Amino acid sequence: MRADVGGEGDLQEGGTKCVAVNQKAYALFKVAGQIYCLDNACTHMNGPLCRGRVSGFVVTCPLHGSRFDVRTGQVVGAPARIPVHSYPVAVQGGRIWAELP
Ligand code: FES
Repeated sequence: MRADVGGEGDLQEGGTKCVAVNQKAYALFKVAGQIYCLDNACTHMNGPLCRGRVSGFVVTCPLHGSRFDVRTGQVVGAPARIPVHSYPVAVQGGRIWAELP
């Protein structure tokens, strides 16, 4: 399902945005001019990744510090061991579109 998850201008470089589609939460990130979308729930204990701190391509979970690559959802720092899902994103007409399940 292709979902409109907000305006391109809603996200600043290095910023995050929390969005919900069909009652499921997602986290958006903008790094190096590209927008990325991950499941919002950290795979450790469901911490909200959209409230995390972004450094380069890595977001740090605000609860216990797990780190994930925003491009792929891969874990790059414990305690999480399982990747978060990432979803393709396109920008069209000033809107951010995510390909969600
Ligand atoms: S909930 Fe994210 S590190 Fe624990």
